[in-house]
Amino acid sequence: MAALSTPERTPVKPRVVLGIETSCDDTGVALVDADGRVLAQALHGQTARHQPFGGVVPEIAARAHVEVLDRLIAGVMAEAGLSFKDLAGVAATAGPGLIGGLLVGLITAKAIASVAGRPLLAINHLEAHALTARLTDRVAFPYLLLLVSGGHCQLLVVEGVGRYRRLGTTLDDALGEAFDKVAKLLGLGYPGGPAIERLAGEGDPKRFALPRPLLGEPGCHFSFSGLKTALRQLVERLGPAALTQPTLADLCASFQAAAFASLCDRTGRAILRTRAAWPDVSTLVVAGGVAANRRLAAELGRLTADHGLALVVPPPALCTDNGVMIAWAGQERLRLGLTDPQDAPARARWPLDPAAEPVLGAGVKA
Ligand code: KG4
Ligand code: ZN
Repeated sequence: MAALSTPERTPVKPRVVLGIETSCDDTGVALVDADGRVLAQALHGQTARHQPFGGVVPEIAARAHVEVLDRLIAGVMAEAGLSFKDLAGVAATAGPGLIGGLLVGLITAKAIASVAGRPLLAINHLEAHALTARLTDRVAFPYLLLLVSGGHCQLLVVEGVGRYRRLGTTLDDALGEAFDKVAKLLGLGYPGGPAIERLAGEGDPKRFALPRPLLGEPGCHFSFSGLKTALRQLVERLGPAALTQPTLADLCASFQAAAFASLCDRTGRAILRTRAAWPDVSTLVVAGGVAANRRLAAELGRLTADHGLALVVPPPALCTDNGVMIAWAGQERLRLGLTDPQDAPARARWPLDPAAEPVLGAGVKA
C-alpha cells in the first residue's frame, strides 16, 4: 500500500495591506502586515521640483505622483514577493490634502482593489499620523495627540480608531507652515523646518525677543502668524547687510524658542484639560513633520515629565509623510471592518472631529 502522502503545505500569507500616500509632495507606498511589520516601502520626494517656488505647487505635485506611483508600487510588491491577490486590503489617503494628488493615489488604489477583489480603505491622512504611534510603540487608547505638520497644528484626544476629540487647533498658520515661511524669508529654501533647526543649533535663542503667541491665554488653540510677522519686521529693520550667518542663526534660534514656548504652553493646558475629562490618558504622542525636530522633543520631554505623562515621538521617517502610516491605518480599520466603497470620494478637507467648533481663519486646517 502506498504511504499516505503528506498534503502539500501552502505558506500562510500574512494579512498584508498596501498603503499609498499622495496627499502633498511625497509619494509613499508600503506593505505592512497586521502585526505592524513593514515588508517593503518606498518614498519619492518632490522637494527639488517645488523648491524654485518656495512651496508646494499642486499641479506639479499631482503630475509628479502620476509619474512615479506605478513604478513604486511594482517595486514594493516585487521586493515582498507578493501579487495583488495576496493583499488583504488596499489603503490610500483620501484626504485632507491637495485634490489632484489625492485623486492619483485613490484612483490607483481603487483599480488595484477592484482587480484583486480586495477591500478598499480610504484613509484620513491625519488619522494615519495619529495612529502611527500604535505601530511604533503599541500605544493603547486613549492618548493625547499633538499633530504638528506643514498643514496642521492640532491637539486631539484619540479615543479609538475613528474617534477623535479636538481640544485645540491653529487660528491661522500651521507650525510647519510658519517654519517654511520664515525659512523662505531668510533665504534658507524649502522645506524650512530642517534648515531652521540646523541653524538654530548654532544660534543664541535670547538675542532677539519675539512674541510668544497666546502664552498664558485660556484654551488650547495656537497662532503663529503674529510671530512670523514680528520676525519679518525685525528682518526688515535689520536690513539685508546684517543677515550674516551668525545673525541668521540667532534669528532661527529666537524664532524656534518663541514658537516652541507657545506650543508647549498650549500643550500643557491640553494636558490639564485631558486629565479632568479623560483620566485614563497617560501618554502624549507627537506626530507630523515638525515632530522630527529634536529640540521640540526635548522640550516636550520636560513638559510631559512634569505632568507624569509618557512621551512618544515616532522616528522622523515615520513622522513626515510616508506610505507605512497609510498601510497601518488601513490595518487598523480593516481589523474593525471599516472598509470603503469604490465610490469613496477624495476630500480636500476632512476634519478628524467634525463636531469641533469651527475656528475663525482655520477652516482649511481644522
Ligand atoms: O507631515 P509632513 O511631512 O507633511 C504635511 O504637512 O502633512 O510635514 C512637513 C512639515 C514641513 O512644514 C517641514 O518644514 C516640517 O514639517 N518639518 C520640520 C522639521 N522637519 C520637517 N519642522 C521643524 N523642524 C524639523 N526638523
Ligand atoms: Zn502629513
